Amino acid sequence: MQTDSLMKNSSLMVTKGKGILAADESTPTCTKRLASINVESSYESRNEYRDMLFSTPGLEEFISGVILYDETIRQTTTCDKKIPFPDYLSSKGILPGIKVDTGAKSLAGFKGEKITEGLDGLRNRLNEYYKLGARFAKWRAVITIGDNIPSDACILSNAHALARYAALSQESGIVPIIEPEVLMNGLHTIETCYEVTQRTQNIVFEQLMMHHVLMEGVVLKPNMVVSALDCNKQADIEKVAEMTCKCLMKNVPGDVQGIAFLSGGQSSDDACMHLNKMNQKYMEDMPWNLTFSYGRALQNDALIAWGGSNREKGQEALYYRAKCNSYATKGLAFDMLKNAL
Ligand code: 13P
Repeated sequence: MQTDSLMKNSSLMVTKGKGILAADESTPTCTKRLASINVESSYESRNEYRDMLFSTPGLEEFISGVILYDETIRQTTTCDKKIPFPDYLSSKGILPGIKVDTGAKSLAGFKGEKITEGLDGLRNRLNEYYKLGARFAKWRAVITIGDNIPSDACILSNAHALARYAALSQESGIVPIIEPEVLMNGLHTIETCYEVTQRTQNIVFEQLMMHHVLMEGVVLKPNMVVSALDCNKQADIEKVAEMTCKCLMKNVPGDVQGIAFLSGGQSSDDACMHLNKMNQKYMEDMPWNLTFSYGRALQNDALIAWGGSNREKGQEALYYRAKCNSYATKGLAFDMLKNAL
């Protein structure tokens, strides 16, 4: 195992003041995002949108890595010089990453639950992605809260798949991002989210250890512990920060390289404020850097401002969100956002 480069790259991913841009939407998801601004999804429009994001001037001040999708890792910049995206990002000092799961499918025998697929042939795909320039990967497991779910079978099978993916990634010299996402859809309280998130993280690390995954060479991408979107009692920022950090302290080994949260459907401001509060209050107690690996909470404003053609406005919006979240990794974002709100 290439222990040194795994440790070096994972530590670059969670460098203080920097976070990860998740731009690995599958083609159907990217099509949905483009449809929301009335842009038709095509190979070219997806390439143009990603090019607008990645060529944001100064993006590298706040972004350590970008997660790409299979189509995107093979695309190039759209300016005169057609530079492959992984080479272009690396030249800016940004690590290229790649989503390697093939999506969450229905878990047989467990209504309403999902299992993430993509292990078959993964070793070969990882080797190819490494040659294309990827230095880290992502695998997202989805855990749904509802009547009598999640089941132990759902959590365990997803944790097992995450562990097998992580071991294969490390074997290929690629840092695995471990993403067990407890969804925020539904009516449940923050207490229920805590209970399910802690149960999930616990089993995930049990499986990672059983599969001899190098903790210093992984980045955990967890959900924050929040009230469900339709819960009538919404926990405040303090409570989210407190319960999220408590959950991590209880379940995540101290030698994990770092933690980069997903935004999961929170508003861009909420995702930033929650991260900010965690770092402001608990940074000293945490053995890891706490940062972001946001998709929607970094891209939403940029997508709207771009609108299919306005590159400069789109880039300004992305730069601003990346900067706010960079400040949030130091617990310093509050004043910036307060002024902007
Ligand atoms: P969101 O921040 O939009 O949840 O996306 C992060 C991600 O990579 C989901 O897999």
